[in-house]
This record gives sequence, C-alpha cells and structure tokens, in this order.
Amino acid sequence: MTVYKRLFRYVIPHWKIVPAALIGMILVASSNAYIPFLMSQVIGILEEDGRASGSLLIPLILFITFVVRGFADFMAVYGLNWLGRAVIHDLREDIFQHYTKLPSAFYDLNSSGSLVSKLTYNTEQVSEAISNVVVVGIRDSLTIIVLIGAMIYISPALTTMVAVAAPIVGWLISLMSKAFRRYGLRIQTSMGDATRVTEEALSAHRIVKVFEGQEHQKKQFSEINERNRKQFMKLVAASAAGDMLTQYTVTAAVTAMIAVAFSGLLIQDLGASVFIGFLTAMGMTLAPLKRIININAALQRGIAAGLTLFETIDEPVERDAGTKKIDRARGEIKFKDLSFGYQNSETKVLNNINLFVPAGSSLAIVGRSGAGKSTLVGLLPRFYDVDTGQVCLDGIDVREYRLKDLRRQVSLVSQDVILFDDSIANNIAYGLLADSPRADIEAAAEAAYVKEFADELPDGLDSPVGQRGALLSGGQRQRIAIARALLKNAPILILDEATSSLDTRSEKRIQSSLKELMKDRTTLVIAHRLSTVENVDRIVVLDQGITAEEGTHTELMSQEGIYSGLHRIQFSD
Ligand SMILES: Nc1ncnc2c1ncn2[C@@H]1O[C@H](COP(=O)(O)OP(=O)(O)O)[C@@H](O)[C@H]1O
Ligand SMILES: [Mg+2]
Repeated sequence: MTVYKRLFRYVIPHWKIVPAALIGMILVASSNAYIPFLMSQVIGILEEDGRASGSLLIPLILFITFVVRGFADFMAVYGLNWLGRAVIHDLREDIFQHYTKLPSAFYDLNSSGSLVSKLTYNTEQVSEAISNVVVVGIRDSLTIIVLIGAMIYISPALTTMVAVAAPIVGWLISLMSKAFRRYGLRIQTSMGDATRVTEEALSAHRIVKVFEGQEHQKKQFSEINERNRKQFMKLVAASAAGDMLTQYTVTAAVTAMIAVAFSGLLIQDLGASVFIGFLTAMGMTLAPLKRIININAALQRGIAAGLTLFETIDEPVERDAGTKKIDRARGEIKFKDLSFGYQNSETKVLNNINLFVPAGSSLAIVGRSGAGKSTLVGLLPRFYDVDTGQVCLDGIDVREYRLKDLRRQVSLVSQDVILFDDSIANNIAYGLLADSPRADIEAAAEAAYVKEFADELPDGLDSPVGQRGALLSGGQRQRIAIARALLKNAPILILDEATSSLDTRSEKRIQSSLKELMKDRTTLVIAHRLSTVENVDRIVVLDQGITAEEGTHTELMSQEGIYSGLHRIQFSD
C-alpha cells in the first residue's frame, strides 16, 4: 500500500538510528529465549537435589541477563521514539509548508479547524504508529519467534500440539484490524470537528456573548465530544476484547497441553524440567502476543491518519506555470472579456468585464456589496484564476509571470484587516519587508497615522497588537494595514474599502497621504463612501457582475444612473 511506502520515505533520512534500535530489540528477544532454559535448568537441579552443585552461576547469569535486557530495552524504546518524533517533525514541516502554498479556493472549502487537527492530531497518530508499531512489532514478534524456537528445541511434540492455536490467533488479528481502522477514521474526523467548533467559539466570543450563543456552541461541541468518546470506547472495547480472546486462546492451548501431558496418552516420559521450561516459554508468548494484536489499533489509526494527511499533502498547490520575470512593472492593468465564478457556486460573479487602467492612473470601483468588487481586484494577484478572458499586467497575461514576481507588484489593503500576533512594527514590516530599515517603518507609520496612536502605547511601535490585532480598534488595525502597504512601495496599490473603519476626520487625513501615495502608481480603489473616490481618474460601477457605468465623476454625475443615485442617497443626510 502506498501509505506504507510514503511513510517509509519519511523514515529513510533517519535510518542511522535504526540499527541501534534493532540491536536493542534483538538482544531483548534473545534474552527472553534464555529464560525458559533457565527455568528448565533450575528445575533440573532441584530434581537432582543437587542444590549446591549449581552454585552461584545460575543467579549470576540471571542477573546479567536482566541487566543487559534492561539496557537493550532502553536502546530499542529510545531509538524508535527518536525515529517517531523525527518523522512527526518532518511531516509537520511538510504539511505546514503545504498549507502556505494552497490556492485560495482550498481555504474556502476546508475548515481551518480540521486543517489544524491534521497538523496536530493526525501526525501524532502517524508517529505513534511508527514508533510503537515498530518497537512492539519487531521486538515482540522477534520475541515470539525466539520463544517458539525455544519451545521446539525443548519439546517438538508439545510444540506441534499447541500449533493448532496459531490460525485462531491469525484470524483474531485480521478481525481486529478492520474494526481498528474503522474507528480510527471516525475518531480522527471527530477530532477535526472538535478543533473547528472550539476555534469558532473562541474567535467569536463577543458574538457568542451578545447573541447568547453559549447553549448553541455547547450543544454543537457536546455532540462532537460525545461522538469522539463513543468511537474511542468502541476502539477500546475492540482492543480489550482482542486481549481477552488472545488470553482465552493461549489458556485453552496451555490447559489442553497440561491435560494431555497428565493423561500420558500422547507423550510418555515427560520430565518436570522439560515441562516447566516449555510452559514458561509458552506463557511468555502471551504478553507480546497481546501487544501485537493491540498495536494493530495504533497501526490502523496511524494508517487512517496517514491517509488523510497524504491526501492533504497531495492537494495541488497554486498553479505557478508562468516563467516571465519582472522586476518592477509599469502598472498598466487590463481586464479583457473576463468572466469568473467561484468553484462552489453555479452563477458567475463577474460577466464579460472589460476595463483598461493606464499605468499610474487610478480607478475606483463602486457598487453594492456583493457586486463582485473584491473578487475583481483579487484576480490581479491571482487569488483565483479567471474562467474565461484575461487579466493583463503591462500587456501580458498575469498567468505568464512567475507568481512571486507578479505579487511583488501589488500592495493590498484588504477589507478585513488581518494582523499577526506580534508588535505593530513587525506587522507593518511583514514578510519580505521584515528587513526594512527602522526609519522606513517609522515613515510609513507616520504617513498612515499609526504613530499617532502608537506613541500613546507604552512601547510605541513595538507594542503588541494581540491575537488578530484584538488589542486595537478596527480603525487602528486599518491604519497599520495601510502603513504596511505604504512600506511595500509596489507599482500597483489595491485599496479594498481601506478606510471603511475610520471616522470621517481620520479618513480625510489618511486620504491626503493616500493621495500622495497614489501619485506615481496604478491604484484600484474600492470604496463605500463616494466622497473618497471623487478625485480618482476613472470610476466604474459594478452591478450584478457587469460594468454598468464607467466614466469620470463629473460624467457619471451627469447621467441619471446608479452612481448619481448612490451619490444622492449618501449626500442627502
Ligand atoms: N470565497 C468565495 N467563495 C464563494 N463565493 C464567494 C466568495 N467570496 C465572495 N463570494 C461571492 O461572490 C460575490 C461577490 O463577492 P465580493 O466580490 O466579495 O463582493 P463585494 O466586494 O463587491 O462586496 C458575492 O455574491 C459573494 O457571495
Ligand atoms: Mg468586498
């Protein structure tokens, strides 16, 4: 199966630890084999009543055997857990890296909770499978093999008798595997659901409070929590039942063997030392046998977890087939016969859009909410790719540029400002901008009026913003986003309702610095308040996916259309 193969590929780079672990396991298994012989010898000596003849040799050997066995066990457990943790580490790196490269549509369709759970829970399962399964699987199966060898050596006749139990054990193992995998998958799904619901409840805590959503959230969580418990209990029941059945099988074999031995029917002249030695060997197989059947639970859970992990890793990353390099674009934008609809919906959001924005000019996009304004501007940095038509930058289809190069041309202040849990300064100088000189950061903060409120905080620009910027007001967050865009200094600037959370006075002031910023770059401005777009070169009105009106402010005002209508409504009060 491919899951094994792929997991194995994660093991290969760390193969060096494997021999040490393997030696440990072999030592453990072979020291186990010695114990039945030891018992046999002890009985033999006692039988001959030669208490003195054995002297201290046997206890000494016993002591040394267990010292070696203890250290060997340490080597095996440590080595394989080391391997397991290394695999987890590498898996997490790969998954996290993959998460940063997926196309926007993937994030639309997958809850972040289940993605988080894959990174945390699923990888744990995989690692547990690898380390436990290998420790138990190799060490214990070696032990069993060695013990069976000892049994054959001690008494081939008795061994043949108990061999009858082997197929029953095999059948048990296969029966358990199926159950384990089924419950493993269900547990995994419920873990993902639990993470998702918890995350939602935590991030929406204000809404939960005001709209009294506690009951609803609690109910949602309880159901998932209960499902998780039930599936886990089924797994526990299956595993405990497996234990029990193994025990019964071995017990049945042992009792049958004793009965036969006592009856003297099949085997004559059975010496006590042989019998005890054999019985010890056989009894010693019980514990490893149980563990082997039970690690199947971990193994199957690991496989189930690995399956979904690899599914995610196989999700195609953003298409980046373009080869054209670009250092700094002039900034001419063209939307040509463009149509676009989101993956999960039938209707087109944008229909046959044709727009031309000369380099260095500004275009305002206005229209009702849901008209497709954010969607349209998002096509330029290729958050999504168009269905038909083209978006061109400097006359070349955006898909022909290298994705990185393309996005370097664009600065964006998006509608919902997302800040990282870091300082104000680090939020402004984010990503590629992280190494910006302090003076530049301060200049951007000054221009976006970030300094104004930052100076009142104890650590100024180095004050923390909290998770998602929770320690700041909406307007303050927006100003940080604007400063970030200023610092990037890209030839194209997209302002998607960038000043919507600001009061009129702050907006007016920022507007003046934005105007400064727009001077020698191409700007796409989306704004609710029409007062903020009067000064742009051109205005386009989007309505139901088409460009309903287009022109300068004066031109549009002279028509009795949507724009002048909106204008009238906004300025009547
Ligand atoms: N990620 C998405 N997946 C599916 N549909 C979306 C997505 N984002 C927006 N939409 C839909 O596309 C339409 C346009 O949305 P949007 O471009 O955000 O409008 P605007 O910015 O003009 O308010 C809306 O009907 C919205 O429901
Ligand atoms: Mg929008």
